[in-house]
Amino acid sequence: MNAPIAHFNGRLLPLDRISISPLDRGFIFGDGVYEVIPVYEGVALRAREHFERLQRSMDEIRLANPHTVDEWLAITRELLEHHPGNQSVYIQVTRGAPSKRDHVMPKDLAPTVFMMCQPLASPSKEAVENGVACITARDFRWEKCHIKSTSLLGNVMARQLSADAGATETILIRDGFVTEASASNVFVVKDGRVAAPLQDNLILLGITYDLLVRLAGEGAVELEIRPVTEAELRSADEIWLSSSTKEVLAVTSLDGKPVGPGKPGPVFRRMHALYQEHKAKSRRQSAVSA
Ligand code: PDD
Repeated sequence: MNAPIAHFNGRLLPLDRISISPLDRGFIFGDGVYEVIPVYEGVALRAREHFERLQRSMDEIRLANPHTVDEWLAITRELLEHHPGNQSVYIQVTRGAPSKRDHVMPKDLAPTVFMMCQPLASPSKEAVENGVACITARDFRWEKCHIKSTSLLGNVMARQLSADAGATETILIRDGFVTEASASNVFVVKDGRVAAPLQDNLILLGITYDLLVRLAGEGAVELEIRPVTEAELRSADEIWLSSSTKEVLAVTSLDGKPVGPGKPGPVFRRMHALYQEHKAKSRRQSAVSA
């Protein structure tokens, strides 16, 4: 089988023809940022918002963006011509490959840009209908989780804890408060009201989180952004995960105990429906503008 087409520093190439220097700061230091964008039948969902977040991540790590948002969108469209159907687009920008290893950020180094597509693994019908299991762990990551950094060792180690337990995600607790999960955001519901953790430096502000807040507002779902305690998590009627690939998923078991009645709740079902409607609307709008 031919290797899939990917983007590397301005060119489209088969994935197996791309090689990256071992001195690349992405490899040596994890000195880079990334994005993951879901694509449904060729239509990228909230692509502009993802590239705006990429810009914010790059600003935070003092990395000059080689492209404007419109250029990124054009590159994405070009790549998607080689990848029909439902895809996730992965974009990574590192600080580039200097001639020697040195922690100090080199000046005037061209960044390394890499983009690839993978078939989008949307949640199964079973996961949507029955919910998923999660475990909790202490949030042992750094204090700049708002940067979508490729330095993901903390997230990888956290995720492995749930993988070892046969669970879908690890929900992280820092100083008694819920932050997020290893690769998704977390919401809790009590008495019909949704609470989402603060949008601060301790979480990645998900593009999906942001969309759910908007959809809740439009759909008359009561939602508050405020600190969420571990006690609230443990006594919640509903818990949800959100991410570009998970969409919105109900957590029906936490640390082996049922969440509420142990099946996805009514507020989740409403939110899931609003999300699916939004996806369908984006596809229709894109068909109109194409
Ligand atoms: N992860 N928090 C963390 C730590 C994440 O890694 C992600 C996404 C999110 C949700 O963000 P968004 O809604 O923008 O996808 C929150 C991606 C999907 C990943 O690393 O594969």
